[in-house]
Amino acid sequence: METKRLKTKGETMIERAESQFWAYNTNNKYSQQDLVLLDNVQFIYELSLAELELKTFGIDFQVTNGLREFKLLNKSNELNKLLKRRGAYYKTIEGEFTDYFHIIQKNQTRSVNQYLTHWIYPYKGKFHPQMIRALLNIIGLKKGDIVFEPFSGSGTAALEAQLLGIDFVGIDISPLCVIQGRVKTESIYVLDEILKLKDEVITKFMPNLFSTETNYYRLIKGITSDKRVINFYNMARLLAVSDNSRRKRDFRTSFIKNLNLMIASVKDFIETKERLNLKLGNVKIENGDSRDVKLSNNSVDGIITSPPYSIALDYVQNDAHSLKDLGFDVSRMRKDFIGVRGTGRSRVELYNADIEKSYSEMYRVLKPNKYAVIVIGNATYQGKEVKTAEFTIKYMESLGFKLIKNINKIIFGLYNVMKKENILIFKKEK
Ligand SMILES: C[S@@+](CC[C@H](N)C(=O)[O-])C[C@H]1O[C@@H](n2cnc3c(N)ncnc32)[C@H](O)[C@@H]1O
Repeated sequence: METKRLKTKGETMIERAESQFWAYNTNNKYSQQDLVLLDNVQFIYELSLAELELKTFGIDFQVTNGLREFKLLNKSNELNKLLKRRGAYYKTIEGEFTDYFHIIQKNQTRSVNQYLTHWIYPYKGKFHPQMIRALLNIIGLKKGDIVFEPFSGSGTAALEAQLLGIDFVGIDISPLCVIQGRVKTESIYVLDEILKLKDEVITKFMPNLFSTETNYYRLIKGITSDKRVINFYNMARLLAVSDNSRRKRDFRTSFIKNLNLMIASVKDFIETKERLNLKLGNVKIENGDSRDVKLSNNSVDGIITSPPYSIALDYVQNDAHSLKDLGFDVSRMRKDFIGVRGTGRSRVELYNADIEKSYSEMYRVLKPNKYAVIVIGNATYQGKEVKTAEFTIKYMESLGFKLIKNINKIIFGLYNVMKKENILIFKKEK
């Protein structure tokens, strides 16, 4: 007789976690207090950013009730509206849910900060989106202003700027990052076309979708000429490639699952935009080199970025499976990626020279009296700490930036691994 194997404790826990999607209970009655923090706000740096946000909005406040609520000292309808529409860390204002609270409900994942299209593609070293929303507010950016991201990565800042109606210009040396950022911010404009092609992609291409002879990318180009739709379907494949390479998941199952989740997230985004009547910012993401930026002098209203942390993470190696699948020569690519060029000591020296060039470019393109935010952490290389944060402060100040705030962002992540980063806010003074 066949006996059924009992599940291990770990398996049961994973099953339970995987069956629960992340969401607040919106039916609860919420406190009529002036301003209540979101439940996911846990760290000191977040409280600090919440306070800076309030100060930028011109709000006087007192922190109350175990640090989770604020009493507002100068109330007005206008300030309430501003907080409700733009605030990043608040659940309710006088009992009414904020826009951000509604936005984060639209989440197809189990992670609180991967709402709307943020989750698409498992990119290492993503910004925390809530922090970016707060920083966009803190540096005083408004609708129609331009924020520049010279290392745009997975497109976190692109999506957050777009949601606040701020125009975004971003570059990244990795073509994979360009696709990620564009898919997250542009798919909402082409959902009908995406849906129209879905059955064709699945039925026509599916039998040999992942065989080496089928050139999926050419097939997709053959059925649509819209670059945004092409990027969307290319990304669905890259998610399956990544799932297969990292987690050994079956290609086809993963492709269908991710395609459906991507479509659901794009629908969520459109629904949220309409429900909250959001006027989205324009987004432009290009393949480019932060050491040689194609923007004019004094042309952007703010910069928010996080450069490679010295040589901490090999971005080329990390995404090699997807870059190769897209047809790129991974070894040739390395020569332009900051932080992965050279070996041994020369690697650190090359990093320093490259990052200096990038910081000079930031100085050149930023308008005077505007702010540049750099999120950076120290790295360890060959057993030694590389003091990237200190290096950044010193070099930025030599260019004519003034350090306005240096917030320590110490967090304990998965398995209690400590991550220490600094949020550095500079002003272009000279
Ligand atoms: C820390 S990540 C940025 C992550 C991003 N903030 C996010 O939320 O996903 C650093 C990025 O720098 C990019 N990069 C490396 N060298 C570059 C260069 N020369 N020019 C532009 N981007 C570069 C890498 O491809 C990587 O995406």
